[in-house]
Amino acid sequence: MTRVFSAMQPTSDSLHLGNYLGALVEWVKLQDTHDAIYSVVDLHALTQSPDPAQLRDRTRRTAAQYLAAGVDPERSLCFVQSHVPQHAELAWALSTFTGMGEAGRMTQFKDKTQKTGESGANVGLFTYPVLMAADILLYDTDVVPVGEDQRQHLELSRNLAERLNSRLGEGTVVVPKPHIVKETAKIYDLQDPVKKMSKSGGNPKGIIEILDDPKKVAKNIKSAVTDLETQIRFDRDAKPGISNLLTIYSALSGEAVEDLEARYEGRMYGHLKSELADVVVAYLTPLHDSAMEWIDSPDRLDTVLAQGAAKASAIAQVTLDRVYDRLGLLPALHR
Ligand code: AMP
Ligand code: TRP
Repeated sequence: MTRVFSAMQPTSDSLHLGNYLGALVEWVKLQDTHDAIYSVVDLHALTQSPDPAQLRDRTRRTAAQYLAAGVDPERSLCFVQSHVPQHAELAWALSTFTGMGEAGRMTQFKDKTQKTGESGANVGLFTYPVLMAADILLYDTDVVPVGEDQRQHLELSRNLAERLNSRLGEGTVVVPKPHIVKETAKIYDLQDPVKKMSKSGGNPKGIIEILDDPKKVAKNIKSAVTDLETQIRFDRDAKPGISNLLTIYSALSGEAVEDLEARYEGRMYGHLKSELADVVVAYLTPLHDSAMEWIDSPDRLDTVLAQGAAKASAIAQVTLDRVYDRLGLLPALHR
């Protein structure tokens, strides 16, 4: 079976609708047809210098939301990155295959260092995409479901995989492909609908958090920024706000955007918003409740994560051994 791998950083108390529709929904679907592995990448989160207690809490919360969304530990692996030391080990080897210029071109690095300037950033932030490549390549991953913002990082993973295969021999690693669902690849900020919905995004009213109070979720939808026209139609350039609401509506209800346009013909923005608010709240409530159950039973959660890590580590070691051997590192006979 083809292998899927994906991951998110534990950098917020709650995932937002962009994470959910852009990535998690797809993760859950892919389990039916693929051998799936999903990780909470806490080592990546270290690049943000998080508070230790908060990092611990957010790591569990992120995993809880994977499970609540339908990641099924009976069929898929779910684990915490730092529990599988092979990630950091392969990342080191891959860093010696990565050009300085190549890493410097990553737009996320440029965005994240805009405020501090490159010299104020930590080296981890610079090598972050190399660790991401290690995550992916360790599991002989064929397909990586992510949102549009990760496309460039995936391209680096592909380039590194091809470089390894050309220098160390074919079959050293599998060259992964991105899996980006066009319709939901980018969910936009409700207050600033040309900007992606993001946990670091300015206005809290612009984002919908999975673990938010439903009343707040409804309020945020109802106060979404639209435009001065009255027609409800999808037009990303001229009507980014309405288009974003239609995208969300369609993704959650399963109704095609054209059908929604037809259904809302002649009706007002207020109708669309209040009905969408109901749809979102109805959708998120069971998700929220299930995530809270996992969060409230950390022992049960930790057991699932430990089982996932044990299996992931066994798979990862096979790849790491193959790469180390081809690099010319001596076999570690003490193990
Ligand atoms: P991040 O929030 O950057 O850790 O992203 C976690 C996952 O969610 C990645 O696969 C992203 O591509 C995806 N993602 C993040 N924000 C959005 C968004 N606004 N729309 C769609 N996908 C997103
Ligand atoms: N960089 C990704 C993000 O910010 C998270 C991530 C780390 C990831 N390793 C990965 C995603 C491997 C897919 C595969 O969203």
